[in-house]
Amino acid sequence: MKAIVIYEPGGPEKLIYQDVPTPKVKPGWSLVQVKGFGINHSEIFTRNGLSPSVTFPRILGIECVGVMADTTDPERLPVGQKVISIMGEMGRAFDGGYAEYALLPNEQICPVETELDWATLAALPETYYTAYGSLLNLRIRERDRVLVRGATSGVGIAFLRLLRARWQGIHVTGSSRSLRKEAQLVEAGFDEVIVDADGVLQTEQQFDRVLELIGPATLKDTFSHTAEGGIVCSTGQLGGKWYLNDFEPIMELPANGYLTSFYSGNVYGKRLQDILDYVAKYHVNAVPERVFSLEEVPKAHAYLDGAHSFGKVVVVV
Ligand SMILES: NC(=O)c1ccc[n+]([C@@H]2O[C@H](COP(=O)([O-])OP(=O)(O)OC[C@H]3O[C@@H](n4cnc5c(N)ncnc54)[C@H](OP(=O)(O)O)[C@@H]3O)[C@@H](O)[C@H]2O)c1
Repeated sequence: MKAIVIYEPGGPEKLIYQDVPTPKVKPGWSLVQVKGFGINHSEIFTRNGLSPSVTFPRILGIECVGVMADTTDPERLPVGQKVISIMGEMGRAFDGGYAEYALLPNEQICPVETELDWATLAALPETYYTAYGSLLNLRIRERDRVLVRGATSGVGIAFLRLLRARWQGIHVTGSSRSLRKEAQLVEAGFDEVIVDADGVLQTEQQFDRVLELIGPATLKDTFSHTAEGGIVCSTGQLGGKWYLNDFEPIMELPANGYLTSFYSGNVYGKRLQDILDYVAKYHVNAVPERVFSLEEVPKAHAYLDGAHSFGKVVVVV
């Protein structure tokens, strides 16, 4: 089969398109014919050698959508069944989705029913699943003033689309490190764009709900822009900082507010189907921003890593 293999950390050019043996099923594991997958920021991190637990060579890819090609669980995962798989150490401890076939533990292969095309389905698992989980944890209400900090990311745009599809009138602000992508953000559906200048939001506004995708690097600044009783969901770490130092919850949390998070590693099969149902019910436009082929994975990484990256990037195999 064709696959993208990485032998050593580095830039997108370290992702090598080549022939490798197609894996064979073994007890408790089944073979998925990969039809597509999203490119995730965490894979860029791993490619750069910043995931200490990942050893090379490795086929990266923490998610995939496809059909069952060979199975050790014919009842739940019959050959030809449409499936989604995410996380569970795929593309990290064992080979992942950047390939024509992926051998995966049965317990992390979720059968799904959907009529979506492969490119759209490929946009959903990790990114929309994360945005959807964050949306639920933010307990959105019709009149909330919502901020997406890190709005141009795949998760940021997915969150906006999920939100807009259900609450058309809600006021949503997005932040970016410059106004270069302002027109794109407005076109995507943001009401307003504010600049995040070195971790300081360039506004006096307060928000009722904040999806924080820059993470601990900007969380305290986010608290200072959160209205009384507001909720902050810290889901991303685009700022490259994992921990919050010198944090005094009593004084620094927004008054009577809440801090929550969402972790896609807590995968529940039914929730994957829930998100497909939500997308269908509210007619969410989940079409990815850019679609690449398997051979073009290095290009897809370069795009997502570059100054013009915007929204969800997928590969259709
Ligand atoms: N909690 C979970 O389970 C979970 C699951 C999935 C993803 N995530 C996290 O969610 C975040 C978004 O993921 P993604 O795959 O959607 O990201 P992505 O599409 O790769 O994000 C790209 C955007 O990140 C912004 N950015 C890049 N470097 C930055 C920096 N140093 N400081 C601030 N902004 C920066 C850029 O925005 P501008 O140029 O417009 O500023 C760029 O458009 C990541 O941190 C990812 O790890 C978490």
